[in-house]
Amino acid sequence: MIFIRPEQPADIPAIHHVVEQAFQEAFGSTAEADLVDNLRANGKAIISLVAVENDQIVGHILFSEVTLGDAMIIGLAPVAVLPSHQKQGIGALLINEGIHACRNAGYTAMVVLGHPEYYPRFGFVSASRFGIKSEYDVSDETFMAMELQPEALANCAGVAKYQAEFNEV
Ligand SMILES: CC(C)(COP(=O)(O)OP(=O)(O)OC[C@H]1O[C@@H](n2cnc3c(N)ncnc32)[C@H](O)[C@@H]1OP(=O)(O)O)[C@@H](O)C(=O)NCCC(=O)NCCS
Repeated sequence: MIFIRPEQPADIPAIHHVVEQAFQEAFGSTAEADLVDNLRANGKAIISLVAVENDQIVGHILFSEVTLGDAMIIGLAPVAVLPSHQKQGIGALLINEGIHACRNAGYTAMVVLGHPEYYPRFGFVSASRFGIKSEYDVSDETFMAMELQPEALANCAGVAKYQAEFNEV
């Protein structure tokens, strides 16, 4: 049985391992594991959840603040599931719980940079629909946004900027 809970200090090495394994297998990159550590160390890990199965951490998701003009929204990144545990719905559990936690924390909108086949099922649409651009040179359909409160992005056209740690890895 899988459950989702906020990270605890003792989880830190296991989270690093999960993120490293997932991104190593998918992209041949381990920078995202360092990104998670850097964001946490700098107090920028606003919401960090783990998926636990049989006392083992098998998935992780992190949210950090993103500036959009004068507005502060939240960014989903990264999300990772151990390769051996993928395609069982754990990523979806983490994303849905994370969205819920961000809404409860008062955030009104969320952005994500990722697979355009995956995130729309959670309610994300192309950020360009709201006039929002990424600061990175990415294709239109991979940068997505979602309102957590109705009309939250109605007057928020502009460039979304992630925390500086994203540029350091
Ligand atoms: C993305 C990820 C977190 C999904 O975790 P998961 O537990 O397998 O997710 P779920 O079981 O909820 O859903 C699996 C779906 O993700 C899709 N998916 C995974 N990687 C994908 C990719 N590179 N492109 C498109 N879809 C992808 C699968 O195709 C599957 O879709 P389906 O339900 O239509 O078959 C996991 O694959 C992972 O850790 N990947 C490596 C890291 C990564 O890419 N993170 C996201 C970028 S921030």
